[in-house]
Amino acid sequence: MGLIPKEFIDELLSRADIVEVIDARVPLKKSGREYSACCPFHEEKTPSFTVSPAKQFYHCFGCGAHGTAIGFLMEYEHLDFVEAVYELARAVGLTVPRTGVEAPAAPVDQDSYALLQQAAEFYRKQLREHAEAGRAVEYLKGRGLTGEIAAEYGVGYTPSGWSQLAQAFPASHPALVKLGLLVEKESGGVYDRFRERVMFPIHDQRGRVIGFGGRVLGKEEPKYLNSPESPVFHKGRELYGLYQARKSLRKIERLLVVEGYMDVLALAQYGIRNVVATLGTATTREHLERIFRVAPEAVFCFDGDRAGREAAWRALEAALPLMHEGRQARFLFLPEGEDPDTLVRKEGRAAFEARVGQTMPLSDFLYEGLAKQTDIKTMDGRARLVELSRALLGRLPEGVYRHMMVTRLSEIVHISADILSGLLGFGAAVKPPRSGKRQGIRRLDDLTGGAGAPMSPVRRAIALLLQRPALAKIAGEPRRLAGTEIAGVDILVSLLELLQAQPHLNTAALLERGRDLPHGRYLLKLAQWRPLLKEEEWQMEFLGALAQIGRQGLEERREHLISKSRIAPLSAEEKRELAQLLSTPPDQGRG
Ligand code: UTP
Ligand code: MN
Repeated sequence: MGLIPKEFIDELLSRADIVEVIDARVPLKKSGREYSACCPFHEEKTPSFTVSPAKQFYHCFGCGAHGTAIGFLMEYEHLDFVEAVYELARAVGLTVPRTGVEAPAAPVDQDSYALLQQAAEFYRKQLREHAEAGRAVEYLKGRGLTGEIAAEYGVGYTPSGWSQLAQAFPASHPALVKLGLLVEKESGGVYDRFRERVMFPIHDQRGRVIGFGGRVLGKEEPKYLNSPESPVFHKGRELYGLYQARKSLRKIERLLVVEGYMDVLALAQYGIRNVVATLGTATTREHLERIFRVAPEAVFCFDGDRAGREAAWRALEAALPLMHEGRQARFLFLPEGEDPDTLVRKEGRAAFEARVGQTMPLSDFLYEGLAKQTDIKTMDGRARLVELSRALLGRLPEGVYRHMMVTRLSEIVHISADILSGLLGFGAAVKPPRSGKRQGIRRLDDLTGGAGAPMSPVRRAIALLLQRPALAKIAGEPRRLAGTEIAGVDILVSLLELLQAQPHLNTAALLERGRDLPHGRYLLKLAQWRPLLKEEEWQMEFLGALAQIGRQGLEERREHLISKSRIAPLSAEEKRELAQLLSTPPDQGRG
């Protein structure tokens, strides 16, 4: 696959305007030097989503979403990186160059989507018109499905025979093979992958068909066949029904996660619209990220049997790293032998919703699961519970939610929450709650990893540089800072060198360059810092930070030489250096 040259990304980000890109999708209001809106990535009533034209960067103070114009397109339009680059390039009228030895793989082309859409229409037409349609309609009716819901979800039918689709699209065989709807024969030629099945089109969040699930009408195996992975379809990422849920609900406070296509349809038919299904896979972190972007609460509906509990436990493990304050994950275990489809048809909407209202919070499920592995009536058992909890709680992001989980554990094992936090290695303190006024400070605290701790000069310099790349001009020779052990100096030096060589790079371009690097996340985080500085203070602050790093470097060098002199004689040059270092007091003057 061809690579997109870095320089092109730089160029693209300097040409594109993030305000325009976002405003076309989420109308923005000007507020001061920035723009704001209600965040498209979480539900909120007052706007905490801001877009900075200067930084070409967006950031939500509510949910923490942030990134460049490319990042925004990836999140909002659910594109991968290459697709987002193509989309942005199209918008600003640039052509994406590709390098690389192999022929450049075309990004997901609009043709694939168009073709999948046509296939979906073909299947729907068969359900209405084909000679076999009666059987399929009977089957769906037999399951209680109404015509309205079938139409809304685009349900179709693929008749028996090996080449219904192949014959309908004679000119598109290679593309349909790539999309998994046709299969290549060893002897040459193609045949339909889906035959004699009810067809459920799977849509992405924008409503484009990206794949299909097909169910047999009888007892044949496999019961469901799904599209294989393709350039547009990734099972571990997509959620069946999400498009329809978002289309019919303005605000989704809670999203139900079920297992099957028919569960989504049945619940929708009973007016329960906030439902998505995973596609025959375990719940992945990517699923959960998507879910929490849409709603703050996820309710997992699983069978009450052992397999269901195991699947729920896996969902719990995947959810842990995403449990920020304000988010909830709950578990609904269904009675033996029932699934949401059968249950809602049996009990009706109100009874089903009552169940959803009485679900098990993640904390209970977690401690119940762990407590089963030990006897908490004994002291040893409780100690073991703490041990077992450590690994799982360690996956929770630091913050109020984790603190509450520790508090809950403290009640179970009868140890004070503070001591328990210490035992678990989390430290007792909880970060101060968010408040609008202290936002600047709060970000600073986040970045330094501790309330009130000062931000290190290296971080300060990087953060300032990310937001005002032009500062690189006044930094002097970057290499003079290198060669020390100070954390992050290497990143700072490489940023300075990059910017001195390519002064046109803006904040967004720098962040995109960081995307693939181990410190990319760290840069994104630092770019969010909003220093409470007046215009004229930026340069001073930046030079001050560099000077401090320089002094730290010298101190480090002096310590090094002194320690060395204790074990071995210094060379003449080293002696001279040390003498000079000792003649300048470490905290002398700024600048
Ligand atoms: P279930 O076996 O629980 O079936 O599969 P269901 O959804 O209740 O199906 P009905 O009610 O008999 O029609 C749950 C989900 O697992 C995937 C499908 O996505 C299905 O919706 N699955 C199941 C497969 O991918 N292949 C299979 O053979 C079975
Ligand atoms: Mn079912």
